[in-house]
Amino acid sequence: MAAPADEVFEGWKLFHIHCFRCHGFDAEGAGAPNLRETVKTRLTRSGFIVTVLGGRPERGMPVWGEVLQPQEAERIYQYIVERATGRLGPGRPPSS
Ligand code: HEC
Repeated sequence: MAAPADEVFEGWKLFHIHCFRCHGFDAEGAGAPNLRETVKTRLTRSGFIVTVLGGRPERGMPVWGEVLQPQEAERIYQYIVERATGRLGPGRPPSS
């Protein structure tokens, strides 16, 4: 498989540092929602980024706005879209 764009690799890394413990190793959901379904059916790109940065603290989704830059949230979004469409397979993406 061709190496994904650097942004996608960066998104994978950020996801695995911050998100996988609740959203599942491969973003398939683990208690917290399956984010691959989220990007396909529930949230637009800007809705996703707003949700990540603002969180839903009353529902167990932490606020990430003090930890992540908007651009980093965007990269996580790009990684999840690549997984959701199947362009990127499971596990650690090959790096360029
Ligand atoms: C401590 C556990 C936890 C962590 C860590 C976490 N989340 Fe969540 N997240 C949740 C829960 C629980 C929900 C569901 C909230 C609800 O019911 O509305 C959620 C919801 C979301 C949603 C909305 C999903 C939807 O379909 O409505 C997005 C987007 C999201 N999280 C992204 C992220 C990202 C990106 C990260 C890493 C930066 C992250 N989350 C880290 C627990 C977590």
